[in-house]
Amino acid sequence: MNTVLFSPYTIRGLTLKNRIVMSPMCMYSCDTKDGAVRTWHKIHYSARAVGQVGLIIVEATGVTPQGRISERDLGIWSDDHIAGLRELVGLVKEHGAAIGIQLAHAGRKSQVPGEIIAPSAVPFDDSSPTPKEMTKADIEETVQAFQNGARRAKEAGFDVIEIHAAHGYLINEFLSPLSNRRQDEYGGSPENRYRFLGDVIDAVREVWDGPLFVRISASDYHPEGLTAKDYVPYAKRMKEQGVDLVDVSSGAVVPARIDVYPGYQVPFAELIRREADVPTGAVGLITSGWQAEEIVHNGRADLVFLGRELLRNPYWPYAAAQELGVKIDAPVQYERGWRF
Ligand SMILES: Cc1cc2nc3c(=O)[nH]c(=O)nc-3n(C[C@H](O)[C@H](O)[C@H](O)COP(=O)(O)O)c2cc1C
Repeated sequence: MNTVLFSPYTIRGLTLKNRIVMSPMCMYSCDTKDGAVRTWHKIHYSARAVGQVGLIIVEATGVTPQGRISERDLGIWSDDHIAGLRELVGLVKEHGAAIGIQLAHAGRKSQVPGEIIAPSAVPFDDSSPTPKEMTKADIEETVQAFQNGARRAKEAGFDVIEIHAAHGYLINEFLSPLSNRRQDEYGGSPENRYRFLGDVIDAVREVWDGPLFVRISASDYHPEGLTAKDYVPYAKRMKEQGVDLVDVSSGAVVPARIDVYPGYQVPFAELIRREADVPTGAVGLITSGWQAEEIVHNGRADLVFLGRELLRNPYWPYAAAQELGVKIDAPVQYERGWRF
C-alpha cells in the first residue's frame, strides 16, 4: 500500500526518507557536566537511526551554561562542543537518518546553580526560585548565544535546527502573558511578547540557511494564557521570517492540569497548518502506525514526532511498517532477520 507515513518529505532542500521524527528528549546523561556528547548519546541516537527514523532531533541543548535545565544537559555554548556533536552527526547520518538539534534556554526553569534569568521576576510556582528580570543587555547576549549555537550546529554538520520556544522555557516565557509582565518593547502586546523569538529567529537565520523548525506550546491551559488561535498569527510571522515548520506541542509555562489522551495535541497542529498555511509537526501520545498514518494522510500535520514510544522501542518504524503492510529497508546486517 502507498502510505504517506513512509513517503519521502522534502523541506528546504533536505529530503527525509519518511515522516517519522524522533522528538527531542533530554537524556540528562552528560555526567561530566560540561555539556559534552558522551557515549550514551552516540548509542542512543544511532540506535534510532538504525531503527529507520527519518529525522532525529537531538535533545534540548543549552546555548549558555545557565540556559541548561540541569547540569547534565548537552551544551553548545562553546566551540569545544563542536567535535563531539560532529561525531554524533556522522554516526546518525551513516545509518541514513537526518539529524537536527534543538537549541534551548531554560529561563526560569533552569536548575543549574547560579543566576536564573527570565523576562520577568515571576517564579514558576510557589516552590520555585524567583528569577531576575532580564535587562536589554541580557536579551542581546542571549539572542547572540542562540546565533552562536546555530553557527556551531552548522559546523557540526546538522541538517535541521529547531528553536525551543515551548514548555515554559525562556522563549515561551516571553511569549506568554502569564510569565511576561514586562513594560518595555519585549512585553505587553502580542507583538511585543513575540519580539524576543523574532530576534532569535532573525539571528539564527543570519548564519543558518538550512531547514529551521520552531517548537511551540500551543496552549497554556490557563484562562488568561495563550491558545492555539493566538499562535496562528505568530506562526504566520515565523513563516515570513523563514521558519520552515512549526512543531506543535503544548503546556508547561505554568502549572496546569492537562487532559492527556492519544493525539491530544494534533488538533493544534492541524489548526495552525490550515490557518497559518505553514507545515507543522504533530506530537503527543502517537504510538501506532495507523494513528501516525491518519495524521499525515489527512493533512493534519506534515511530520509526526514520537517521544516515549521511541524510548520504549527504537525500532518502532519497523513495527509501524509491518502494521501498515509496507516493506522498508533494513540495514544489510539485519536482512537475515526477515528471512525464515
Ligand atoms: C524523557 C523526556 C525528555 C524530554 N525532553 C524534551 C526536550 O529536550 N525538548 C522538548 O521539546 N521536549 C522534550 N520532551 C517532550 C517530548 O519531546 C514530547 O513532546 C512528549 O514526550 C510528548 O510526546 P510522546 O507522547 O510521544 O512522548 C521530553 C519528553 C521526555 C519523555
